[in-house]
Amino acid sequence: MISIEVIDRKHCEALSLIVSTDTELARHLYGQGKAPAPTSEYEFFEQCKRWEHKNGGFCYAVLLDGVAIGTASYVPIRGGETAGVGFYISSKYWGKGYGTELLNELKKTLKEKGFKYITGNMPKSNIASKRVFEKCGAKFKERGDRVYSVIELQ
Ligand SMILES: CC(C)(COP(=O)(O)OP(=O)(O)OC[C@H]1O[C@@H](n2cnc3c(N)ncnc32)[C@H](O)[C@@H]1OP(=O)(O)O)[C@@H](O)C(=O)NCCC(=O)NCCS
Repeated sequence: MISIEVIDRKHCEALSLIVSTDTELARHLYGQGKAPAPTSEYEFFEQCKRWEHKNGGFCYAVLLDGVAIGTASYVPIRGGETAGVGFYISSKYWGKGYGTELLNELKKTLKEKGFKYITGNMPKSNIASKRVFEKCGAKFKERGDRVYSVIELQ
């Protein structure tokens, strides 16, 4: 079962190992030919905290039966009624429905926090991400080589 939890140092051993070694994930996150960046547990946590501070955002660990397999993050935008989200999970867990479970968990959490919409954007080539948004009720707009998704939280 997938759950999300505010990121904590205890999640960062597993997460730093994923971003340090997952070549398939690095290719999706950073582009063709990009390699995973070796990142210590300490650096991983500090990077999350720096990102939150810089963007006014919030980072969560994505847990599969309590074990960290990815992250989800959001930034309040458009006067605070919309949450701009991003997420990833380790490539060894792709294609099993976990990405969809994750976005559904994020929908619940963000609705409880009072958001009205979730939005995300991705390259058109990111079929899995687009499909996850679609399965969670998103509508789409295309601009250039990117797809912009919106989910209304009701
Ligand atoms: C996006 C991501 C979280 C999806 O996770 P996941 O666990 O594989 O997602 P799910 O299994 O719930 O759903 C994936 C869907 O995409 C489909 N899919 C994946 N690759 C596909 C392809 N090349 N062609 C057609 N469909 C594809 C799967 O079949 C599945 O749809 P289905 O349930 O209708 O069969 C994962 O791929 C990831 O971490 N990617 C890297 C980071 C990223 O792109 N994040 C999104 C940024 S907003």
